Amino acid sequence: MCGIFAYLNYLEPRTRQEILECLIKGLQRLEYRGYDSAGVAIDADVEGKQIEIIRRSGKVKMLEDTIWSRQDLDLEQSFNSHVGIAHTRWATHGAPSEKNSHPQRSDLTNEFVVVHNGILTNYKDIKQFLIKKDHEFESDTDTEVIGKLLKHIHDNHPELTFRELVEQVIQQLEGAFALVCKSKKYPGQCVATRRGSPLLVGIKSKTHLATDYIPVMFSKEHRPRQPSTLSSNIKRSDTTQFCPLGEDKEVEYFFASDASAVIEHTNRVIFLEDDDVAAVSDGNLTIHRMKRTIDDTTSREIITLKMEIQQIMKGNYSSFMQKEIFEQPESVINTMRGRVNFDTEIVILGGIKDYIPEIKRCRRLLLIGCGTSYHSAIATRQILEELTELPVMVELASDFLDRNTPIFRDDVCFFISQSGETADTLMALRYCRMRGALIVGITNTVGSSICRESHCGVHINAGPEIGVASTKAYTSQFISLIMFALVMCDDRISMQPRRSEIIQGLRALPEQIKKVLELDEQVYDLAQKMYQQKSLLVMGRGYNSATCLEGALKIKELTYMHSEGIISGELKHGPLALVDKAMPVIMIVTRDPVYPKCMNALQQVTARDGRPVIICEKDDTETQKHAYLSLEVPHNVDCLQGILTVIPLQLLSYHIAVLRGCNVDCPRNLAKSVTVE
Ligand code: F6R
Repeated sequence: MCGIFAYLNYLEPRTRQEILECLIKGLQRLEYRGYDSAGVAIDADVEGKQIEIIRRSGKVKMLEDTIWSRQDLDLEQSFNSHVGIAHTRWATHGAPSEKNSHPQRSDLTNEFVVVHNGILTNYKDIKQFLIKKDHEFESDTDTEVIGKLLKHIHDNHPELTFRELVEQVIQQLEGAFALVCKSKKYPGQCVATRRGSPLLVGIKSKTHLATDYIPVMFSKEHRPRQPSTLSSNIKRSDTTQFCPLGEDKEVEYFFASDASAVIEHTNRVIFLEDDDVAAVSDGNLTIHRMKRTIDDTTSREIITLKMEIQQIMKGNYSSFMQKEIFEQPESVINTMRGRVNFDTEIVILGGIKDYIPEIKRCRRLLLIGCGTSYHSAIATRQILEELTELPVMVELASDFLDRNTPIFRDDVCFFISQSGETADTLMALRYCRMRGALIVGITNTVGSSICRESHCGVHINAGPEIGVASTKAYTSQFISLIMFALVMCDDRISMQPRRSEIIQGLRALPEQIKKVLELDEQVYDLAQKMYQQKSLLVMGRGYNSATCLEGALKIKELTYMHSEGIISGELKHGPLALVDKAMPVIMIVTRDPVYPKCMNALQQVTARDGRPVIICEKDDTETQKHAYLSLEVPHNVDCLQGILTVIPLQLLSYHIAVLRGCNVDCPRNLAKSVTVE
């Protein structure tokens, strides 16, 4: 939800201006994760004995303007070694304001400063404890307790190293967090840690790294959590130093909640695991853990990211969302690349192929996700039922958890998530994993929590999605699930004709998507007719049920208009009462098995003076006779048609949002990656 970025240069001199530019750029890359306030903490003097915090409510641009307008900052001052931390916020505890922005601090002298993503569920208890110890709070955030706790324990145990201090603090914390801490008591050092919220370390050096792995050190003893005696039972953990760079000491480290913030500096990253404590001191990176669990690995791999900087730039597009809509002819190819052979009709999903026999024996398939990811499950449920002949349950992650849904060892649970970090989906994953189900992750983010906590999975390979509203990830999730269905029936003779028709449908998709994108001007004209309306209904059924839900979600989140996706079978059970001459209605009517029923719904709407805009197949003049306006998309096989029908709705929401003056990439109150429950 929020974004963390930190930059540490060691023996690689940087001016204050360069450091600030690096921090601001990092925040700009992360702004899509949260955008109601932002801040940085840097050294005020060369020795790092004083810390300067600069914060602003509003977008990163406001922070940037504030920074560059500061006459008192010596921008030329050079630092041999320096730690800067930065944050862009999406408010959870405390309204968006300067005092609630991060970095939060321990005291008026900025002894310890911290940036935090996530929510601390026990912060009130800790706050009470600290107030009794005479700490004065200045913000409404949960984060502030971290800075104050650092100071409190440090004052009582000055012998602790910075890393040990942070280890003591996180033992007291409950909830989700990713943290980066800086202190004038430990100049040049930086400590970062996570639990339930993503965090990675980027490493950059002029020479090759001496290793591809960083060993994990385990503390000798795990201390019980005792909030009331917060600092009374401190013991030291072991401290093996490890230098990832061999003898070469000039190094830069980047800490970020998202790879897109570091990719322009380095593609060598380590994804931290829950409860890892990564510390940099004298240019050396160490990763420690307080407790050992059964499946703990003893090292962290330094991964080489394949992401390119162009993928996270807007190029000539006016917004990331627009770019991502127009990327779909390529993104769907990338999803299928190396997996679908259109000539031999062999489909291989490397990430799950070893598990296919087990999946074929399962009791049922569960598809679990939130928002758009959930819609991709709805979109493919029918074809999965048909091709796997297994019961398929589709679940909203939050509701699934609320119900304590029964899960069995022979269930196969799919967790669908663009970010791979959505808290509800991740919690549902852990719930199913604990009950012994096989976990399959369908994500767009390599190294994400869902990725790492799944037994197997499919990377949808749509490329970074920056616009808060999901577009290309939806079509790639859709295709990934279709490919899975194809794999599941590849040995079923009776299904070969159906399989073949779908594979040839997949082959046609990229060109057909290009054709749909050519509707852009027509969709713009439609948007001009609709943008001042209060409400918009989107109706369809069968394979297009998900298109309605997804289209309506795009409209409401981007344009703030009320919009409802209505499965047309339900029309006469209530929603028909909404229909009159004035109510804008979009209906999806394609030539699939439910076409006659869709026509019934269409007639029910026109009989109430409704003036439906229809999304139908090319040259379907018969259906168009009933339309007030129509948008034609190419014909594909029924189960893939939803990929083509959703794109005009993505375009429509984009154009209406622009016409209404809404911020397309950063809709109000929303964030890209929802890492809180
Ligand atoms: C809507 C949208 C959200 C996400 C949802 C799940 O455009 O983007 O509804 O789909 O928050 O996010 P992921 O897929 O990252 O788990």
